[in-house]
Amino acid sequence: MTVSIEPPLAMLAEITHRCPLRCPYCSNPLELSKRSHELSTKVWLNILDEASELGILQVHFSGGEPTVRDDLTMLIKHAEKKGLYSNLITSGVLIDKSKLSSFVDSGLQHIQLSIQGADSKVGDYIGGFPGGHQKKLEVAQLIHDVDLPLTLNAVVHRHNIGQIKKIISLAEKLHAQRLEVANVQYYGWGFFNRKSLLPNREQLMEATEEVNKARDRLKGRLVIDYVVPDYYARRPKACMGGWGRRFLNINPAGYVLPCHAAETIPGLRFERVTDKPLSEIWYHGSAFEAFRGTDWMPAPCSTCDRKEIDWGGCRCQAAAITGRPDATDPACELSPDHGSMNSIAQNESKPSQEQFQYRRM
Ligand code: SF4
Ligand code: FES
Repeated sequence: MTVSIEPPLAMLAEITHRCPLRCPYCSNPLELSKRSHELSTKVWLNILDEASELGILQVHFSGGEPTVRDDLTMLIKHAEKKGLYSNLITSGVLIDKSKLSSFVDSGLQHIQLSIQGADSKVGDYIGGFPGGHQKKLEVAQLIHDVDLPLTLNAVVHRHNIGQIKKIISLAEKLHAQRLEVANVQYYGWGFFNRKSLLPNREQLMEATEEVNKARDRLKGRLVIDYVVPDYYARRPKACMGGWGRRFLNINPAGYVLPCHAAETIPGLRFERVTDKPLSEIWYHGSAFEAFRGTDWMPAPCSTCDRKEIDWGGCRCQAAAITGRPDATDPACELSPDHGSMNSIAQNESKPSQEQFQYRRM
């Protein structure tokens, strides 16, 4: 059945890949975009115009670290003028009081601040940025002082999943409204470092129990988003809310992607927002059409009653594990490749001496 195409709900604006942190699970591609390839302010202003005309409601300014760009305030202001809800996804380490005020005065509505651990020892080690954790605590206080809604984003893996209880306490202490406990997504840098990041089943079960206890205790005060990681799941998540259904991503060089990791999928052709109208790319771009709806699905998805719930799971994960981007996501128990995912989880979650590689330009 062909599904009708609605306008996208949100746009991830990756305005740069530059970042002072070096997290080994970074969602950016292994081949990072250089500063000289970044889009100009003028082009980003045009993109915001086009996004608003297309019916997009939210823009998430992201990177890399979006605050490395001097024109971020101007972009936030323009988003506000165009009626777009703006969210800043940041490591926080470059934000001071005056920068934050300029974002707020320009209309910023929400901040998503990342933390790499519950304390400086773990946080600074994972982020590869000495002093970063302390700086984040200070920024969270500044965000609270200006009364801006705060989501704390904690990416968890073998090295910090044991800190989950402390991470939840930290979110409370920092007055976050929401805590996203996001398990590493294993494509790009995460895939590259999988052997040194995958948690084992016991670690995962303990963390899940802590989250469930905290959810009850903090009802009405702190929302905790937490999904069992794919490597231990029985059904996949509806990645991106379904391919080409709700989100688009524009990378620093202006390529429009159906998801932030779509460049890891071989054979897809991406178009640049400087070459074609954004709406044309959204409705007719070949990369968007490749896995939109359900017509592309193989068995068992094609006859499954969940096919319009999870949309067959994650295309980047299917490509990374099976080499076939149109395969059923191996996170699904019904996938013929589910066994390989189980074996990877078993084999690669064993404590190893292998050190992860930090992200590098
Ligand atoms: Fe989802 Fe496909 Fe698994 Fe059905 S078979 S649950 S549609 S991934
Ligand atoms: Fe690309 Fe899931 S991360 S579709």
